[in-house]
Amino acid sequence: MPDTTLTIRADAPIGRISPRLYGHFAEHLGRCCYDGLWIGADSIGIPQQHGFRTDVLEALRALPVPMLRWPGGCYADHYHWRDGIGPAAERPVRLGMSCGLQVEDDNSLGTDEFLRFCAAIGAEPYLAGNVGSGTPQELCDWLEYCNTAVATTLGRLRAANGTPKPYGVKLWGVGNENWGCGGHFDAASYAIEYRRYATMLRHVDPTAELVACGFDDDWNVELLGTVGKHLNFVDHLSIHHYWTHGGAEIEFTEAEYYALLTEAAETERFVQRTAAIVKDATGGKQRIGIALDEWGVWHPEAREWGPGDVSRRKPTTYEQAGTLRDALAAAIAIEGFHRQCHVLTLANLAQVVNVLQAPVMTDGARMWLTPTYHALWLHAPHLGATALPVEVAHGSTLPDGTSAVTATASRTGDGVAITLINRHFDQPASVRLICAGAPERANGQVLAADSPRAGNSAWRDELPPHALATVVIRRS
Ligand code: AHR
Repeated sequence: MPDTTLTIRADAPIGRISPRLYGHFAEHLGRCCYDGLWIGADSIGIPQQHGFRTDVLEALRALPVPMLRWPGGCYADHYHWRDGIGPAAERPVRLGMSCGLQVEDDNSLGTDEFLRFCAAIGAEPYLAGNVGSGTPQELCDWLEYCNTAVATTLGRLRAANGTPKPYGVKLWGVGNENWGCGGHFDAASYAIEYRRYATMLRHVDPTAELVACGFDDDWNVELLGTVGKHLNFVDHLSIHHYWTHGGAEIEFTEAEYYALLTEAAETERFVQRTAAIVKDATGGKQRIGIALDEWGVWHPEAREWGPGDVSRRKPTTYEQAGTLRDALAAAIAIEGFHRQCHVLTLANLAQVVNVLQAPVMTDGARMWLTPTYHALWLHAPHLGATALPVEVAHGSTLPDGTSAVTATASRTGDGVAITLINRHFDQPASVRLICAGAPERANGQVLAADSPRAGNSAWRDELPPHALATVVIRRS
């Protein structure tokens, strides 16, 4: 007798799962952009296309990556977009600064390279603007360079740099973490600055979707209150959530395993609380979406300058090992994204290559896919589908009394897609699924290992997903 029964409520759709909920994040930090994505068109020994690693490009295209945020993160509030356009040899070399790192940054990966990369992998670009050390005019100019169809000097410059047709970038962040690395504003001062930026940006391109920098509940209430009668300038409110209480990246204890999964589950509560604040501020209209534009696991091995930890250890590259536990945590968060898809408008896993919870890692000419990559890939059928509630009954439980097995489901063009998670540290589970109108057969894939500490590396691939035998569905 199965120990858990899951009922898919096909009669009570929640909403559309926007592909933007499966967005990623590429920052000029550590080896994410330089080395991970971009190796330059002159590099030899590693296959590349127009300067981007071919193996990484193909892995991301296959994932898929529907949306990609760039160039930061904290880097965004130091970034001056004009440094990264035109002939590479003429671009200035700057201090590349983010999260306490300072590197030589030759700006060889700039706006045109990034936007062409997005087109190559099928990702919608999301550009994060500079408020901390920039001006409204500089950000307006970037927007004009990318999007104007008029033959202005900036429009002609874009054409001269190889792209006559406007890129049509829709998503624009007005700063990043401006409560911290983006200028240590207080909420009211940032709100006033935001209004100024947003007013000017809307004049340049009224169709741009603007993302305001949120933070915790108090900041968000004050920010929206101060933006006041101009709330129509805010399309999305950004929040970040990193999970930091899981102990060591690989040698974690059972208690730390569960602590990390609990933190991942709390992400949904943060989204719900923020949505409630938006609802209050907008008089119940809820027109502003929640943009969880940085999320994921931040292990101590990758933590020099990060949430909840200001200790100064040896300089870090912000790289960490990924295990099956991280993949489970990501899947738990995604269950929440689907349940909140009526208020959560976008989300970006941090980061896409080589930094934090990266789905793809590289070392020299080698590239490997982390368990998180495979977990995301298993969710691909849900993109653009209609989220359906899942009721859980008689589940075997975890130490905190919650069900060991949970699931997310959606109605796709091809039928119903279901992703199940067994959260238990070391116990198997059996499941009975109830789904009205289910077909007679189904196909499935499973991502599993002998231990949640299992992971992939440049030298071993312990965790590819395996196809399940065709499942025959019983009618009773
Ligand atoms: O993702 C790493 C850093 O975390 C980002 O630069 C910043 O926005 C956040 O603090």
